[in-house]
Amino acid sequence: MQPKYPSDSVTTLTDLVLPGETNPLNNLFGGELLARMDRAASIAARRHSRRITVTASVNHVAFNRAIPLGSVVTVEAKVSRTFNSSMEIFIDVWTEDRESGIRTKANEAIYTFVAVDETGRPVPVPPIEPQTELEKERYEAALRRKQLSLVLAGKMKASEATELKALFAE
Ligand SMILES: CC(C)(COP(=O)(O)OP(=O)(O)OC[C@H]1O[C@@H](n2cnc3c(N)ncnc32)[C@H](O)[C@@H]1OP(=O)(O)O)[C@@H](O)C(=O)NCCC(=O)NCCS
Repeated sequence: MQPKYPSDSVTTLTDLVLPGETNPLNNLFGGELLARMDRAASIAARRHSRRITVTASVNHVAFNRAIPLGSVVTVEAKVSRTFNSSMEIFIDVWTEDRESGIRTKANEAIYTFVAVDETGRPVPVPPIEPQTELEKERYEAALRRKQLSLVLAGKMKASEATELKALFAE
């Protein structure tokens, strides 16, 4: 399969925070943001693989900044690394100042998607070649995150997680 670039899968969703989507502090409800990130990540995974894709795991979410009612929120997702059938998707969340238009990073997340056939069986996806420094950094660390996710899900023995062991040995 022909390799693809992370830029081939970039998916940007921009939307407002409306009253039905907030918590009692009038900030965006976490579950609403998770859904927006899942949608963007799903499209990015589909753009990379051109297959049906399903969420296999939410590896990491950091709700660093509250996002107030009325904010314009942009969710940017792109594939950071592929393995055989699975893809790591990195998601950056930005808010936009109404007057200046300046964007501030609010949150980030990492999801794993798997490409499947019509019967739900995993199928291979094209490899990926990171281009920018940030893409290379995210690519390098992705195997470690995959192993951690598999260990936490009980799908890999900790003793087999070579990248994690190397991390703690440093
Ligand atoms: C995700 C799913 C297809 C994996 O199927 P499976 O039978 O476990 O298949 P495999 O063990 O071959 O795993 C397929 C790939 O997913 C990866 N994977 C599975 N669970 C994972 C996890 N928790 N974290 C990271 N990667 C995971 C495997 O490492 C493998 O990757 P690779 O092919 O790139 O090496 C299957 O569990 C599924 O359909 N889950 C439901 C998905 C869904 O409905 N999501 C929406 C939730 S409402």
